[in-house]
Amino acid sequence: MQNWENSQSRRQAFRALAGMLTASPALRAQLDPFRSHDRIPKLDELVTAIEFEPVFHAKLPRQVYNYTAYGTDGEFTLRRNRQAFDWVDLLPSLTAPSAKPATETELFGTKMPYPILVSPTAAHLALHPEGEAATRQGCTAANTTMIVSNVSSLPIEKIGAAATGPFWFQLYIKDDPALNRETLERAQNAGCRAVVCTIDQQASVYERELHDRNLTPVVTRRSSSREAPPRTPYRIREFRLFQDWKLFAELRKMVKVPMLAKGILTAEDAKLCLEHGLDGVYVSNHGGRSIDYGPSTLEVLPEIVEAVKGRVPVLFDSGVRCGSDVLKALALGANAVCLGRVPRWGLGAYGAPGVQRILEIMQAEFVKAMAATGRPALAAIDRSLVRTDFP
Ligand SMILES: Cc1cc2nc3c(=O)[nH]c(=O)nc-3n(C[C@H](O)[C@H](O)[C@H](O)COP(=O)(O)O)c2cc1C
Repeated sequence: MQNWENSQSRRQAFRALAGMLTASPALRAQLDPFRSHDRIPKLDELVTAIEFEPVFHAKLPRQVYNYTAYGTDGEFTLRRNRQAFDWVDLLPSLTAPSAKPATETELFGTKMPYPILVSPTAAHLALHPEGEAATRQGCTAANTTMIVSNVSSLPIEKIGAAATGPFWFQLYIKDDPALNRETLERAQNAGCRAVVCTIDQQASVYERELHDRNLTPVVTRRSSSREAPPRTPYRIREFRLFQDWKLFAELRKMVKVPMLAKGILTAEDAKLCLEHGLDGVYVSNHGGRSIDYGPSTLEVLPEIVEAVKGRVPVLFDSGVRCGSDVLKALALGANAVCLGRVPRWGLGAYGAPGVQRILEIMQAEFVKAMAATGRPALAAIDRSLVRTDFP
């Protein structure tokens, strides 16, 4: 056999050397920060909200990641929340170009530079050692109203004092009126400007959580004076099944600020909100964590807006991941959009600066989407900028 047939050519030698270099962990990490977790990108390298999720995944224990990521049962609704945005097209337009569209709005007396808020989500101490205090600081830095969860890791007084920006409070209604009164009094004394009563999530079971039950429990509170509710057979959370519209008459007397119901998915329930004196309707399926095979929020939004007829503001969440998602929800009639998992990714990955940056990314993307669709102001956003193709 000819020697030259078997021996290495110069090209092959270079290729082998290049292969060796790219296989080196140091170089590979430079090329692809997400392939392995041995290099965490710097905060200012991230330019979309979606990019934060792998960093969040890399930095946090598996059960904490899962707790944020999962949806109820087989996660049909969780997936559908995202899919629904794919069924809405944005129509570009040159009719009213504006590089700096006017995005300011006001909700219940709270002035906001963008129609974007942070949804209430539980137990931020599992994500970051400063918990909700850091979330609130990030929100204030990004001029964003935070809705503080009833099941926060820190006491409401501490969260309220952690920064100066406006915040609202979310209540999980209890069947003991004294408990509701105490919780609402504390939240209002701490300075909350609105109260959001969450009425969904009656009986959720998370299949993904079942896989985590043998992992070490994660600390979600500094101190807890109350016992966690007992786990019931088959894990139906009976502690919320007493809820009834009539409760709002009682709650109304305890709340001096505007009050909304969160978890509305039908036109009938939206009308009941108005009948029971609520000041706002918050369309949400708890980010796919309430009832599986419930509808996506984007699909039901138009019929709810139609039922409300502009009498009270309509808020929207579940599935929002970028600025054009915000625009789509506004085009279908929402007055403002809230973000659940997105700020959690920012907090878990980088603390308060991560919350600030991820919110500012969403704001900038929203501005870009408004400009691309030729909408110089929020008032110019209407149904004509989208084409929907819901199945
Ligand atoms: C980990 C996690 C915890 C949550 N905790 C609460 C809560 O304490 N109170 C509440 O009303 N909603 C809670 N939600 C629902 C959010 O307020 C919001 O409706 C949902 O996250 C929106 O969907 P998105 O995550 O796709 O944006 C939680 C959601 C997640 C993901």
